[in-house]
Amino acid sequence: MYVGELLKTLDRASTGVPGLDDLIGGGFLPGRVYLVVGPPGSGKTTIGMQFLMEGAKNNEKGLYISVFQHPKIVTQDMLRYNFGLLAHVQAKKIVLHDLGEVIFEAGKKFSWNEILEMILHVIKEEEASRVVIDSFTSLEYTVTDPENKRIAVGRFIRKLHDMGVTCVIISEMLSSESYTDEYYLADGVIVLHHFMRNYQMIRAIQVLKMHGVPNDSNLKKVRFTQDGLRVFQEAPF
Ligand SMILES: Nc1ncnc2c1ncn2[C@@H]1O[C@H](COP(=O)(O)OP(=O)(O)O)[C@@H](O)[C@H]1O
Ligand SMILES: [Mg+2]
Repeated sequence: MYVGELLKTLDRASTGVPGLDDLIGGGFLPGRVYLVVGPPGSGKTTIGMQFLMEGAKNNEKGLYISVFQHPKIVTQDMLRYNFGLLAHVQAKKIVLHDLGEVIFEAGKKFSWNEILEMILHVIKEEEASRVVIDSFTSLEYTVTDPENKRIAVGRFIRKLHDMGVTCVIISEMLSSESYTDEYYLADGVIVLHHFMRNYQMIRAIQVLKMHGVPNDSNLKKVRFTQDGLRVFQEAPF
């Protein structure tokens, strides 16, 4: 690797989530692959969109790959925030791609490699520099070869690294004790939590792992605002 390239790795790609960059040394490392995991309604899709909006503001093309939900529904849901999402979608700075249309409606099933190749193809075609895949969990139930996941996803992440795209993979949290392959394969893992305490819903975020960056893994307070998620540098309770 050339020195110039090494220096480039010191750049940061802001996550677009106020307060989150401070927990991870200034933002994501460009060209790396991150996992955002959490239970339903914890803000995974919101974080994904904030990440794409931040890129679009800086003229970086964003691609949202929807696996299960119809992109129209995702757009409708995200319009309740003051992101200004629609303008970026109309300007094609953010593209929503409906992968579900192919993998659920083709009348046949695909292998991990076939699906991941489809994703790589769309990323290349759209020339995206920021990518969100929402979510990996829905893929687990559709592939013909669930046992090949570790190798196929490992290969996929290597290819993303070669392409230099910064990618956020979203996963549903199945159990806090069991880690799926992408936890091990991703360059960083951010976990969203919500739990009840004294009859109140507490929302929190945790940086579980972040390669190459000293990080604070303690739970931090999270709030939903009109502009999406906001992270505070204090404990959630
Ligand atoms: N302004 C708000 N105040 C409180 N909660 C909000 C607000 N906006 C959205 N939410 C919460 O965000 C959740 C959906 O976020 P989303 O990013 O779609 O989560 P996920 O993708 O993890 O399911 C909803 O369940 C809702 O409770
Ligand atoms: Mg979601």
